[in-house]
Amino acid sequence: MTWFDTVRPARKRAIAIRTDIARQECIRASCRAQFDVRETLFECPKCGDLLDVRYDWSRAELPKRLKDFEAKWSEQADPLAFSGVWRFHELLPFAARAEIITVGEGRTILQRADKVARFAGVATGRLFLQYEGMNPSGSFKDNGMTAAFTHARMVGATRAVCASTGNTSAAVALYSAVDGRIPAVVLVGSGKIAYGKLAQALDYGVRVLQVQGDFDACMERVKEVARTLKIYLMNSLNPFRLEGQKAIMYRILEGLGWEVPDWVVVPGGNLGNSSAFGKAFQELHEVGLISRLPRLAVINAAGADTLCRIVREEQIAWHGGRVDEARIASFYGRMDAENRRARTLASAIEINRPVNLKKCLRALEWTGGVVEKVTDQEILDAKAQVGAGGFGCEPASAASVAGTRKLRAAGVISPTDRIVCVLTGHALKDPHATVAYHTLTGEQLASEYGACGVRGAAYANRPVAVEDDLEKIVAAIRA
Ligand code: F0G
Repeated sequence: MTWFDTVRPARKRAIAIRTDIARQECIRASCRAQFDVRETLFECPKCGDLLDVRYDWSRAELPKRLKDFEAKWSEQADPLAFSGVWRFHELLPFAARAEIITVGEGRTILQRADKVARFAGVATGRLFLQYEGMNPSGSFKDNGMTAAFTHARMVGATRAVCASTGNTSAAVALYSAVDGRIPAVVLVGSGKIAYGKLAQALDYGVRVLQVQGDFDACMERVKEVARTLKIYLMNSLNPFRLEGQKAIMYRILEGLGWEVPDWVVVPGGNLGNSSAFGKAFQELHEVGLISRLPRLAVINAAGADTLCRIVREEQIAWHGGRVDEARIASFYGRMDAENRRARTLASAIEINRPVNLKKCLRALEWTGGVVEKVTDQEILDAKAQVGAGGFGCEPASAASVAGTRKLRAAGVISPTDRIVCVLTGHALKDPHATVAYHTLTGEQLASEYGACGVRGAAYANRPVAVEDDLEKIVAAIRA
């Protein structure tokens, strides 16, 4: 049963999608071990590397053109056609219809944003914002969580667990609560999560463990917990999560009339999105549904810039699967020796050891992608620009706009390129950062966020304090 069955009469559709073409496969070129999709794994049991969900596309039932997916818009009484993820079921065919858990996720908006384009130095009509904060739990995570919960049901999981900087825990909590069959536990770093997100996890009734450590510590622990207690792991290490997140790219293509943009710009934290986006385009290209791939730009916060350092300073790349693992290990060794911790007010991406690093390197290779980093000051300024256009976003999301501006200034992105910035989370996730930016003086800001390098608020919309007096209020309005 899905949430839909409780609000609308069930409607059966005859079309069943072929799922016997799906398998799990290790990404390591020298391993490539394969496993059934009904196995519960979050790493290759042979070599410990990441797993992909892969399909034998030659036996898949794919539409002839992407445009054919538009027919689903007229079938919205069907919960799978209503979902912005499962509308594209043919492109993630690992689960049978009856097994799918959906809460109506992925009905998000692509907005042409000319004011933001001006801010970023891009020509009018060329910059678009993909608002993933419009998902039921307020972030892009729902795209992945519908797929992971579906897989959890397929394998008969009775409990779920995740580590989180906040949004994953909110999404896990929401699916767990709406579906009602898979109770969940979430691990969050104590004091490391924005209030809106903590509020969701508490309100939706999951067990919340506030661990005295940061996200990287929680991520290590949660793997041990999943192994020891045999609880289903909902983090993006789980390859089924990433299958769902591919749908964000399908919707962007749809929003652009099925034309491929020049750039997709996305914040980078644990690097699940960038990995999923690269896979989405690579697969569409492989089956002939698109003729070229867009370039990915993955944007780190300057205080959590592992990807940037690995790609730009260490020059480590995917190299067709022969990634230099010894150099990655030595990089992390030095990071630990220096006791370097991630620090950014964009708490969603305050991550030092991105679990999907290798898949992201692969996506960068597939798409001719680039990496960039932006300061917290640049993030907050870009966030204010997004907010001023309506809808808004949380700090981490604005890294995509700040990164676009920087890549544009550096001449990497050209002013006439067509660009989509993915806004990963809703503005209300972290009201504290927003209110601080708009209300605090430079000095107050420096004392609140000085450690993150924030000194001013060039785009602040300052509230005006006024006495409870009609004349004074009128004067304030006229001023
Ligand atoms: N933006 C937001 C709003 C996020 O919550 C996250 C990740 C990211 C960007 C980074 O995405 O990991 O795919 O590179 N949040 C995770 C969490 C880590 O626990 O909620 P990524």
